[in-house]
Amino acid sequence: MTISTLTQQLREAKHVVVFTGAGASAESGIPTFRDALTGLWERFDPAQLATAEAFRADPSLCWGWYEWRRQKVGQAQPNGAHVAITELANYVPKLTVVTQNVDDLHERAGSQDVIHLHGSLHTPRCIDCGLAYTLPLTSDALPEDGSRIEPPRCSACSGYVRSGVVWFGEMLPEDAWSAGLAAAEECDVFFSVGTSGIVYPAAELPLRALGNGATVVHINPVRFDISTQEHFLQGPASTMMQCLLREAFGGLPAL
Ligand code: OAD
Repeated sequence: MTISTLTQQLREAKHVVVFTGAGASAESGIPTFRDALTGLWERFDPAQLATAEAFRADPSLCWGWYEWRRQKVGQAQPNGAHVAITELANYVPKLTVVTQNVDDLHERAGSQDVIHLHGSLHTPRCIDCGLAYTLPLTSDALPEDGSRIEPPRCSACSGYVRSGVVWFGEMLPEDAWSAGLAAAEECDVFFSVGTSGIVYPAAELPLRALGNGATVVHINPVRFDISTQEHFLQGPASTMMQCLLREAFGGLPAL
């Protein structure tokens, strides 16, 4: 499909979904999951730190990892992709942002009602009774290389407080999953931005969109195999999203 056919479809779309992965936050300086890590985390595969078993075996290591990531997010700013996605909502009748990211950069760029399929770094809760932990987490600077940190305790049952992200082996939050699925099945244009598309069930969303007749476009600097019915725009998320916005609507996001 040519860019002009795509932009025409975008102009005519009634419902657009933007589905993002770690690549959408990469230009804000947040490492993707498959980037090599440094410091204390160098020896670990993120997938090894993202399980209930890992947390139970070594709560301070796991909590330190999520606090380190929360600090990185706090220091980061939304990038041109987040801004362009927010801006797109001004040009189409309906835009749904569905993310696998556990940061809040879409929200900080101004996107509303973002569906977080994999939870959030900002919603910790008790690992035992599930009570939300609402006290402020530390804003003290953590070592750049990462460190172990003893997790806070639940005020109701004294259980350890865990991160609000979805771990491997856990179900996705039901509301988020059903809302993401409904949007994918209803939309006319579906952008899959900065995701390796290998973690299920999230990776099923582009397939559901395609199966329901949507135009599916992958945006990624690294090319990967797609079906003949899907489309690929090769390049960084910020450049490609801004380019689409400009070509389709003449809109230029203010950075
Ligand atoms: P990955 O780290 O698997 O993939 C990131 C993708 O972003 C890769 O395809 C990169 O090529 C691409 N990328 C890098 N820089 C980019 C840029 N500037 N613009 C656009 N794309 C860029 O991250 P996800 O696909 O998000 O799950 O990973 C999916 C899930 O696996 C995560 O949500 C997490 C992880 O384990 C949980 O935590 C449950």
